[in-house]
Amino acid sequence: MSILQVSLPGGRGYQISIEKGILRRCGEEIRKVYSGTDICIVTDSNVGSLYGEAVACSLKEAGFRVKTVTFPAGEKSKNMEGLVSLYDGMLSPEPFPMTRGGLIVALGGGVTGDMAGFAAATLFRGIPFVQIPTTLLAQVDSSVGGKVAVDLKQGKNLAGAFYQPRAVLIDPDTLCTLPDRVFGDGLAEVVKYGVLGDAELFALLSGCAGRKELMERMEEIIFTCCDAKRAIVERDEQDTGDRMLLNLGHTLGHAYEKLGNYETYMHGEAVSCGMVRILEIGEEQGFTCPGTAKQVAELLERFGLPTKAGEIPSQALRQVLAYDKKGSGGEITIVLCKEIGKGFLHKMPKAEFSRWACGE
Ligand SMILES: NC(=O)c1ccc[n+]([C@@H]2O[C@H](COP(=O)([O-])OP(=O)(O)OC[C@H]3O[C@@H](n4cnc5c(N)ncnc54)[C@H](O)[C@@H]3O)[C@@H](O)[C@H]2O)c1
Repeated sequence: MSILQVSLPGGRGYQISIEKGILRRCGEEIRKVYSGTDICIVTDSNVGSLYGEAVACSLKEAGFRVKTVTFPAGEKSKNMEGLVSLYDGMLSPEPFPMTRGGLIVALGGGVTGDMAGFAAATLFRGIPFVQIPTTLLAQVDSSVGGKVAVDLKQGKNLAGAFYQPRAVLIDPDTLCTLPDRVFGDGLAEVVKYGVLGDAELFALLSGCAGRKELMERMEEIIFTCCDAKRAIVERDEQDTGDRMLLNLGHTLGHAYEKLGNYETYMHGEAVSCGMVRILEIGEEQGFTCPGTAKQVAELLERFGLPTKAGEIPSQALRQVLAYDKKGSGGEITIVLCKEIGKGFLHKMPKAEFSRWACGE
């Protein structure tokens, strides 16, 4: 088992444990961080049928009372109505109602972690929760760092909180059941860590021909990504400084997602296109070594990811920038790269960024 310690002030630190098969013995791990009796598993319709029973069994064996609340899989559930239905399930008297002493287990991808985490942050003004992420994106990114949220009609993740889990239990074996497209989607975030701050990781990924080779190195890949995120979150938990580095490709990615009405592209696919485009812009503006965008695009394409989403109409970009949490007033902080492994933050007027991005 590989263990990472996330150190945060106020006793809010926690461990990230990475081990094949840890899901089937999650009860004993959760026992180490929670002394209560009642656990509510929150999961989606796909993950629940694959892993819900194994998790419930392990928790019961460890002596917990267990209930499960399942929601329909997909981003469309990650909103206020979805959240209210989670509260309803948690509070329903069958088989027992959750109380302030209970704990939530978020079992699933980023949608589950974000929504169950937000429910944990708000139910009874906050009860503890544990993340058991089951997509690559959730294992290397969303389950670590304590950002929890639901979407509003005005934009993604606009109602949320910073609320850290008690533990993160990562079982790389769960990735075996992921559809190729969902696996590839998480790979965009993995590549992002390499481009942003780890040329060695980028080289490791470049040496993998496809999913099979990646799976052989998966524990190491997840560990490296989580460690990078841990370091950034420890420096800047509330996302006002260095944590913004993690948004490489995300500002344009969000515009692509919105343009495609959240149907054309999955999150990582949009980030893949956004990352390549921002590197191209970096090259055009003289910030980025020539050839970087091409090198990154080739790797992403080998992993089956799209790298070109076309021009962004300025109207769509303006809408995204209006709700961009990385901006304040007329300014925005974007992430650029000098070369592979050397990302940096660059603050600039939104209007100027729009001109760059829309090629005006
Ligand atoms: N909190 C953060 O810091 C953060 C960071 C990045 C992304 N996010 C959020 O994460 C979400 C995207 O996460 P995601 O891509 O994991 O989406 P997701 O949770 O919807 O999972 C994608 C699909 O894979 C299925 N699935 C999950 N695990 C599976 C498994 N092991 N086997 C088979 N199928 C499985 C799910 O049912 C779903 O259909 C977005 O809402 C995004 O905003 C949050």
